[in-house]
Amino acid sequence: MWTFSDVHPRLALALAATLVIITFVAIQRFFARREFARRHGCQPVAGSLTKDPFLGLDALPWTLRALRQHRILEVNCELFRTYGNTFTVKELWNRAIVTVEPENIKTILSINFKDYGIGNRLDSFKPLLGAGIFDTDGEHWVSSRALIRPNFTRDQVADLTSFEDLIQDLFSLLPHDGVTVVDLQDLFFRYTIDSATEFLFGQSVGSLKKTESENTFAEAFNYAQEAVLTRGMLGPLKVFYRDQKADECNRICREFTQQFVEKAVHAVESEKDGQSETKRQKYIFSHALASRISDKTRILDELMNVLLAGRDTTASLLSNLFFMLAKNPMVWDRLRAEVASLQGRIPTYEDLRTLKYVQCCLNESLRLHPVVPRNARQALRDTVLPVGGGKDGLSPVFVPKGTLVCYNLYAMHRRVDFYGPDAEEFRPERWENGQLQLRWEYLPFNGGPRICVGQRYALTEAGYVLVRMAQEYKKLESQDPGPWEESLALTLCSRNGTKVCLTPA
Ligand code: HEM
Repeated sequence: MWTFSDVHPRLALALAATLVIITFVAIQRFFARREFARRHGCQPVAGSLTKDPFLGLDALPWTLRALRQHRILEVNCELFRTYGNTFTVKELWNRAIVTVEPENIKTILSINFKDYGIGNRLDSFKPLLGAGIFDTDGEHWVSSRALIRPNFTRDQVADLTSFEDLIQDLFSLLPHDGVTVVDLQDLFFRYTIDSATEFLFGQSVGSLKKTESENTFAEAFNYAQEAVLTRGMLGPLKVFYRDQKADECNRICREFTQQFVEKAVHAVESEKDGQSETKRQKYIFSHALASRISDKTRILDELMNVLLAGRDTTASLLSNLFFMLAKNPMVWDRLRAEVASLQGRIPTYEDLRTLKYVQCCLNESLRLHPVVPRNARQALRDTVLPVGGGKDGLSPVFVPKGTLVCYNLYAMHRRVDFYGPDAEEFRPERWENGQLQLRWEYLPFNGGPRICVGQRYALTEAGYVLVRMAQEYKKLESQDPGPWEESLALTLCSRNGTKVCLTPA
């Protein structure tokens, strides 16, 4: 029989053996990595924002200050000026490499796409979205992408009828006296949720037609998104986070969308059985999904994913753009002069593509205020970035598995070596006559296999609203005394809204 005195040395031996194995594996991995880095000519990243190597707590005071002053992105730009175009940072449990080098961004998003994943995005988004194109990786994402992408062909995007119906709703809410102040930002968010639900569900939530208290879905969706952000910021601590209102909002959004899934499945089944009385006229995204898959939860999840990816983004673009247009009356006048070529008729899809100054304004807004200003990928295996290492920042950099590589488009889009000394200014003319020949230096819609599927839809929608507003109003005057300030949530928009006065044409 065993006695305690027998067990104790055995346990000690087992522990010692485990320790030896762990140490051996760690040493082996250390040398393998060193050899890997040497073979690729890697040099350490010279600049490091945090000196505390454990939790990086020394960065906390300025992070909090920048948050309080709503200057996170501006402070990020200062950091790149101080530490160079690529530097490292320790953020609690994460070690990150931060970069504004197009070559590095091209590598993580395209060339070495398979070496990276989207990190723990699913954990934060799942309660609202389920698992779909926006919040999954690997095989799941591949099948989602194959399912979603065919729904964004030219024909599906070129039907502008619903944009015009909603413009009429928008115009009916805008003051026409040239003196009453209106916040366009709020109305643009309502416009885009109406158009997105019309496109995805075949029926708009009609938020422009309702008062705030009637807008249950839109309000629940807003709150649910705030909770996504909170879960994302908490990281592993989110297991302790309880928010009953968020649970309720997730339920409202998903149940609301579920009815359209049921309708879509029913419509597709009726059509197959030849029972449908009228052939479908209008393109409806949910019906297209239901004709390709029968799993209702999957349809619901994909619809939620696309709704989230598509709604705030376009609204933020419009809000940022109109903020700057209202501050730049000469740009507004030029826009109106170009739009006058339509002689008052509403634009077609082809018209929108030929209005070059309209395109320049959209490009310039997305450059100066990219609505997804920062993004990140996590290394799934040991890998290499092409630049950022060594004192001159020109050598490759070793990226150990698990490292976050963060890229900052807000700062990259303001690099004077790409955009000139006036990079901080809103000047749509810089895009005229193909003066800027850019590839990975300009990336509002991301690049590589995960490039935004809704890019064409978004630019068509934003262009449509811009042209119709320019036709309707001869004067757009800013009522915000200060400059544009950031409001950084899931997307980037103006902290003070877009307060303007409008004078009809
Ligand atoms: C100005 C408007 C928009 C901007 C700036 C924008 C930007 C982006 C960016 C940067 C991503 C990449 C996110 C990442 O991989 O980390 C993305 C992905 C995506 N966007 Fe957009 N987006 C816009 C509008 C839209 C619209 C209108 C839709 C749909 C109606 C849409 C649907 C999607 C989807 C489904 C993805 C996920 C693609 C994937 O991971 O494969 N976006 N978008």
